[in-house]
Amino acid sequence: MQIRKTRMLSEQDEESLFGWGKDIFGMESLKLEWRQKVLHFTLYIEGRAASHVGTLSDTVTVGSQKISICGIGAVVTRGDAQKRGLARKLLAQVINWAKESTEAEFGFLFCRPPLVPFYESMGWQLLKDPVLIEQSSGRMESPIPAMVLPLTEAKWPPGEVILGGLPW
Ligand SMILES: CC(C)(COP(=O)(O)OP(=O)(O)OC[C@H]1O[C@@H](n2cnc3c(N)ncnc32)[C@H](O)[C@@H]1OP(=O)(O)O)[C@@H](O)C(=O)NCCC(=O)NCCS
Repeated sequence: MQIRKTRMLSEQDEESLFGWGKDIFGMESLKLEWRQKVLHFTLYIEGRAASHVGTLSDTVTVGSQKISICGIGAVVTRGDAQKRGLARKLLAQVINWAKESTEAEFGFLFCRPPLVPFYESMGWQLLKDPVLIEQSSGRMESPIPAMVLPLTEAKWPPGEVILGGLPW
């Protein structure tokens, strides 16, 4: 098992990670526009990409406060490699990297409601206040849950969250 951090995914890795099913994130019906991730953490088993976590850096606004975050997205494990703890292992490594190598105060992700308990089991907190995201059509409230994970001692403040861009 090997984990690599890259700026690009090869076509072969993309196919392996995202080509194993239709609508693998279960979100196509929402017709949302998503932001490209900047870094790709890929876990390989026997040389083949099996699990992936994408990241980007940004700041979000809560009230008058700007909060630096590490956006986490495109979390996926190939269909035939699921339920072996790979996503959990890779997420833990990415969070360690974010704590050690970025200025971000929080991890920040979007997920489908059934996955909230999965992330809560790793310390992520569900945001109860609305999260406003941008789309080409304008600003809208995120139709899916957003979650945060403290990377420092900071506490997430209450209040509406303004993303200022596409979600990830
Ligand atoms: C979610 C996902 C990344 C987990 O990958 P994984 O390597 O199998 O994860 P782990 O083995 O570390 O943990 C498995 C846990 O995922 C959670 N999980 C996965 N799919 C789930 C679903 N459809 N509903 C609820 N929980 C789910 C469960 O908590 C599961 O724990 P269990 O095995 O005790 O039931 C994988 O199922 C996947 O790629 N799904 C499709 C893409 C997706 O939805 N990604 C999440 C975007 S936020």
